Amino acid sequence: ANPLEDYDLSHPMNSKVGLRQGLTAYGDAHFSLFLRKAFIKAAGYGEDALTRPVIGIINTGSGFNPCHANVPQLIEAVKRGVQLSGGLPIEFPTISLHESFSSPTSMYLRNLMSMDTEEMIKAQPLDACIMIGGCDKTVPAQLMGGISANKPVLPLVTGPMMPGSYKGARIGACTDCRNNWAAYRAGLMDIEDIAAINDELAPTFGTCGVMGTASTMACLLASLGLMPLRGASAPAVSATRLRVAEETGKNAVAAVSDEHRPQAILTKESFLNAITVLQAIGGSTNAVVHLLAIINRHPAVAGTISLDTFDEIGRKTPLLVDLKPSGDNYMTDFHNAGGMTALLHTLRPLLFLGAKTITGQSLGEVLDASVAHDFPYSREIIRPLSNPLYPRSSIVVLRGNLAPGGAVMKASASKDRRLLNHAGPAIVFSDTEDLARRIDDPELPVTADSVLVLQGIGPIGFPGMPEAGLLPLPRKLGAIGVQDMLRISDGRMSGTAGGTIILHVSPESVVPGSVFGVVRDGDIIRCDVENRVIQLDIPHEEIARRIEDKKTYGFNQKQERENERVQRFVRAQCESGRARSRF
Ligand code: FES
Ligand code: MG
Repeated sequence: ANPLEDYDLSHPMNSKVGLRQGLTAYGDAHFSLFLRKAFIKAAGYGEDALTRPVIGIINTGSGFNPCHANVPQLIEAVKRGVQLSGGLPIEFPTISLHESFSSPTSMYLRNLMSMDTEEMIKAQPLDACIMIGGCDKTVPAQLMGGISANKPVLPLVTGPMMPGSYKGARIGACTDCRNNWAAYRAGLMDIEDIAAINDELAPTFGTCGVMGTASTMACLLASLGLMPLRGASAPAVSATRLRVAEETGKNAVAAVSDEHRPQAILTKESFLNAITVLQAIGGSTNAVVHLLAIINRHPAVAGTISLDTFDEIGRKTPLLVDLKPSGDNYMTDFHNAGGMTALLHTLRPLLFLGAKTITGQSLGEVLDASVAHDFPYSREIIRPLSNPLYPRSSIVVLRGNLAPGGAVMKASASKDRRLLNHAGPAIVFSDTEDLARRIDDPELPVTADSVLVLQGIGPIGFPGMPEAGLLPLPRKLGAIGVQDMLRISDGRMSGTAGGTIILHVSPESVVPGSVFGVVRDGDIIRCDVENRVIQLDIPHEEIARRIEDKKTYGFNQKQERENERVQRFVRAQCESGRARSRF
């Protein structure tokens, strides 16, 4: 008799089922099992350990990723939780992305990370997987990969950093990075001040401490029911963060079953809840791009939610959370005000409470089990529905001849609300180099009423779609006190940035037939947020003529310039790598 016949073959380490799922096979099933066990035993595991539910833990720690610097402590706490519940925790690495060290663009690497995550979850004999992430692109990448792999996955974020302090004012990455840099550019701040501020912008490890992309995605994970509610906001350096990690370990062992696979838990309603939360927190415009990519990994939901869904939900949803860049505060304030628990209690009438969560409870049951008034509840940070920070539609979707495929704007982050209904002459920059070369030119014919246009940074024009949509104000206007202008591009922008800025214009400028690609200096651009319109006010025939001209000559020239630019960029990267510091 074959002694291996006695093993529990329903267990992934021992499993014939596992073999069918694609675990490494060497000839017959029992020989494969025999070999797998021989190798895993080399790590020192005993027979008892190897019969337990195997909980994979994705380690995304890296010396280049201060947003993930607490990953070692989180893994220790997760393992404790897994073991307390009788599971076997096994950690493994995937790539780690920090937003600032992801050249040429982090969006490229998001997709690489999602593939890494998906394939390693599929490849290895694990029953459930805890995905530790946090920095901007990591949570979307892990969720995309986890949904496709479709084994039970439990995200755990690293948590936000604490705010810093300068001359009595709190500051934090990265809204205040941008505000203070703009003040320095405008000559309102000297070099000593800006250097001292640099020391305090990111005073602890953890993710950016405002409602940027990382905080936004953490809140969305909680609203999707995949993470404990306080897990969205507990500071990276807090004891609560470690307790959430321990709880996640326990939850993972309990989640080892088919009903806990992400494609079973997540429904269209789960994602509609997430979009409601996105609007109520004044979340990052990047979340629109990420959520659509995540949703498209779910075969039963893909195609049922579009860009317009975000706008429709926005019209019903007020902005309730007073955090930068739309408001004034930091993630620690949100946490102390009750975080996602308090927010979801407030949003209750707008949510689908039957949506499932990773513990098996519905969202409504999770809320019933938590009592909102138990929190040191601040109605200033998390406003009631009756007294919102912004009445509705934090994020809007605009359309018109300039963006027939849609454009996205975080209207609530506008610093000069008059610009939400504005028409002005365009000043056009053909790409980021053109912008850098001319934006501070004293001769640039620009006024506060001009509309700054940046072409060439969409996903095709600048592969990876860089976060270059925050066009700086021309220095000469900053110096006379201009704080905001209407700006428009086909690229993305950091979730931490503010201003009256239209992004993701589609179709993007380099696509043949794009109206955005034929805007010229002096053309009048009209933006009317209330009516969701973005329009180029020139005759239709003139637009058609320009598009025809560009098809004949322009596109090829543009492509040649683009190829040259990429080659120059790669050469510069190589040379700077040899010659000087990368930081
Ligand atoms: Fe990592 Fe902002 S750089 S969250
Ligand atoms: Mg960011």
